[in-house]
Amino acid sequence: MSEPVQDGGTLDPNRRDFIYIAAGAGAAGAAAMTLIPLIGQMNPAADTLALASIEYDLSKVVEGQQVVVKWRGKPLFVRYRTPKEIKEAQDTDWKALRDPQPDSERVKAGHEQYLILVGVCTHLGCVPNFGGGEYGGWLCPCHGSVYDTSGRIRQGPAPKNLLVPDYAFLTDSKIKVG
Ligand code: FES
Repeated sequence: MSEPVQDGGTLDPNRRDFIYIAAGAGAAGAAAMTLIPLIGQMNPAADTLALASIEYDLSKVVEGQQVVVKWRGKPLFVRYRTPKEIKEAQDTDWKALRDPQPDSERVKAGHEQYLILVGVCTHLGCVPNFGGGEYGGWLCPCHGSVYDTSGRIRQGPAPKNLLVPDYAFLTDSKIKVG
């Protein structure tokens, strides 16, 4: 079991999460290698499928923080929002936003405290900083795009909201992404 990020939720990844995921992918890759003579031309490769989805235990995330894990080679933000952050996200006049979307479409009903995002700025692909910017969401250090506590673009050059990946709750505290 790994511990949640305790450093204010900055971009430092949970190192053990990375190790765990990397080890899992490596093991899957090794297993796939032994099967190559048997599966011949079958596609996609088993190691590709293994990387396509991950499960994450949300109990590792503390309220007000985020954990960053690696998914398909990209940072995945797993944020546990405070009641204040949730209210701000819900109360925003979303129809007036650059990429209009209500908060309710960016989280799962009954689990509004958790925001799951691909941590890649929609401008040119930098990794935004947790908690930065006027809206308390994220601030992209490259050209100043500002995202709110729903990951929606509010200021700066980015054209779209941070992407919400396909994911589902397996239990109240575990999600499967991808
Ligand atoms: Fe984020 Fe340009 S890459 S603002």
